[in-house]
Amino acid sequence: ITKPQLNSDGVIKNSETKVFINQKLSERNFKPNDLIFEEHFISPELSNWTRGNYLHSNAIGDRSEDFTAVMDDNSFMTVRSETLLITPIISKTKNKATIKLNNCKQPVCYENNTFTCEYAYDKNRNYVYPPPVNTARIDTNGKFSFTYGRIEIYATLPYGDWLFPYMMLVPDKLSCKTRKQLRIAFATSVDIENNRIRGGPVILNARPNADKFFFVRTNHMATGMDFNANGYHNFTLVWTPTEIHMYVDNTKYGCYINNGEYAEPYHIVLGVGAGGHLEFEESKTKPWQNTLDNAFAVFHRSFTGCCEKSTVHTQCTDHKLNKQRICSREWGSLAVMAVKYVRVYAV
Ligand SMILES: *[C@@H]1O[C@H](CO)[C@@H](O)[C@H](O)[C@H]1NC(C)=O
Ligand SMILES: *[C@@H]1O[C@H](CO)[C@@H](O)[C@H](O)[C@H]1NC(C)=O
Ligand SMILES: *[C@@H]1O[C@H](CO)[C@@H](O)[C@H](O)[C@H]1NC(C)=O
Repeated sequence: ITKPQLNSDGVIKNSETKVFINQKLSERNFKPNDLIFEEHFISPELSNWTRGNYLHSNAIGDRSEDFTAVMDDNSFMTVRSETLLITPIISKTKNKATIKLNNCKQPVCYENNTFTCEYAYDKNRNYVYPPPVNTARIDTNGKFSFTYGRIEIYATLPYGDWLFPYMMLVPDKLSCKTRKQLRIAFATSVDIENNRIRGGPVILNARPNADKFFFVRTNHMATGMDFNANGYHNFTLVWTPTEIHMYVDNTKYGCYINNGEYAEPYHIVLGVGAGGHLEFEESKTKPWQNTLDNAFAVFHRSFTGCCEKSTVHTQCTDHKLNKQRICSREWGSLAVMAVKYVRVYAV
């Protein structure tokens, strides 16, 4: 429990938190620990959130995001029993098929700005396979943002081969060349199997590469050990003008000096990701290799065809291609990320 900060005369200090509602700075005077945002997922309407509906630019080759298509569709996201449920699903779309998203919205950064709501086979591209996973994502961009605060998320982590959560803060003003994220909680399937929880700032820098940007990570999150992912947890990030602290279930596992790098409005993002070129180190059981163009196809094949319904990491022979495949294990009910509430307090 944080004690109210006092001035030398014993008066409670005003908070350093800034709140932006509908993109306007709130004029309210906050005190430390004032509740500034609350979502209990009582209504499926999610009026404080926007549902993502787009194809990442890596579907056409920039390799900066994970292997998902983000869809505003109840098959991937629902609100039930006062809980937000985000469920990633292996796509049924086959190679060379076309996907078209209706009413899709451009994510901010897109290769050459040639945004499209459609993924279509193009023989002139060496990157030809539809996104292998469909998922959902919500954010508070444009509706609720803040600078400095304590954010608590009570949620389960998604678990299944090559999945990971998005529970993070992202600047409202996205830079296409430097992506900053404050991750409130993060654990890939490999982290969960090794009882690790991670969180903290992530900065991705674009490395120019012909007309595409490829991203490289320039820092590492804090890691908590002996973490058992089962069930719900209280994931908390405390962000002040001078420090960032990471907690899980009231245990602190990370702390950073904040050198003013994050002094701008950030909004909340919740979602489930899969694969990607940035989150998983190469290993014997990992089907795809980071940065290779065939990653979407190899990822999809590791869950389908002769690999379908695998319960162990195994290999099988793809008779059509006459090749060995590394299989991923079929996702079960734990692949869902369930979120009970999000609360943000002034600091
Ligand atoms: C969020 O939604 C609730 C109910 O839909 C509303 O009362 C509240 O003002 C909204 N905004 C914030 C910042 O919590
Ligand atoms: C991006 O723009 C450059 C310069 O206009 C062009 O040469 C290149 O082909 C474009 N790339 C794509 C994928 O459209
Ligand atoms: C969640 O954890 C934070 C950090 O330890 C703590 O301040 C907060 O009171 C906890 N929330 C609940 C509901 O226990």
